[in-house]
Amino acid sequence: MPANTPFLIFVGLLLFDSIPGLEAVTLASIQGVYVFGDSLADAGNNNCLPISVRKAIHLTASTFLAIFRREDSVTAKTPPMLSKFGLPLPPPYLSLLLRKNAREAAAVTGVSFASAGAGIFSSDDQTTGQAIPLSQQQDHWRSIHQELTRKLGSSKAQIHISKSLFVMIIGSNDVLDYYRNLELPQQINAQQYMQSIADKYKEHLKKIHETGTPRLLIFGVAQLGCTPEKREKNWTIHECNEEVNMFASLYNEALIKMLQQLKEELLSSMIYTYFDIFKSMQDINSNPAHYGLADATSACCGRGKLNAEHPCLPTARVCSDRTKYLFWDYYGHPTEAGSRVIADLMFAEDSQYMFPLSLSQLVAS
Ligand SMILES: *[C@@H]1O[C@H](CO)[C@@H](O)[C@H](O)[C@H]1NC(C)=O
Repeated sequence: MPANTPFLIFVGLLLFDSIPGLEAVTLASIQGVYVFGDSLADAGNNNCLPISVRKAIHLTASTFLAIFRREDSVTAKTPPMLSKFGLPLPPPYLSLLLRKNAREAAAVTGVSFASAGAGIFSSDDQTTGQAIPLSQQQDHWRSIHQELTRKLGSSKAQIHISKSLFVMIIGSNDVLDYYRNLELPQQINAQQYMQSIADKYKEHLKKIHETGTPRLLIFGVAQLGCTPEKREKNWTIHECNEEVNMFASLYNEALIKMLQQLKEELLSSMIYTYFDIFKSMQDINSNPAHYGLADATSACCGRGKLNAEHPCLPTARVCSDRTKYLFWDYYGHPTEAGSRVIADLMFAEDSQYMFPLSLSQLVAS
């Protein structure tokens, strides 16, 4: 999911229409929402970068724009997430730099550090200023943390963090880098590489943990071999790219193990849950109709075969009923409808995709 993405959308949409009983818990206990990640969560940070090609200003980037910028600005609808959390949508960090009052307020209610194209490692894309890698997102968090401490004092800031949700949705770009890079596979095997991403991620999580004990919601990576782009490349039968799926699975396995180890190292003071977006996508893929979708293979916005020979540029063809598609663009960013389906799977009380805690347990723990 390289370009821009809707984690917030996930959180937002999901919270809103599912599970009535859950809402009260969620609302009462969460004080702030801080989001780290890639295009699945970019709420506009890249728009503030001087040169990034991954800005979220037109509908090319993802549904994120389509939902929050375009459609919503037309209907002036409040994103459901706001009403359910009782919190404003976390504003992008970079938009707060010159706005002292807004920044002070957001330090408490939540901020999005996410950047389309970002990774756990700082790849070329990021060193050239196209995206904000996780290391730099951490710097931004530290600066918000200082703001928070100034405002609340250090012990109250710590309590505040322990009642806040930290959403981490990152890793896809790192996994895809291994597939795209011609030299890497000759230097290091896939399993070792995926392990090295998880190890790096662990360092980042430890740093967050130095500032407090948030409730961490951590996403694995999706079935990256089944995006419209990867299927389109299989020009005969449009099957998923099983090599890419294997890389994604290896990474998710390493991530799950790392999280368990980190919790042990931190003497259980870490509170987290993992969302298995890979398995949820697999299930949606195998029976889209069951989830109210008609198409889980092609892109709603694009051109050519599977609408996935081109990105979602202003010249692209947009499908007539986007509510029937899982994917918005060839990168595999979900549509609003797809985000809702995934959100429902996340928020179900007995969700088989969330472990070790359900979302309500995470929030209430
Ligand atoms: C398409 O996918 C199938 C199943 O994974 C594979 O056997 C075949 O080689 C692929 N074809 C192309 C052109 O990639």
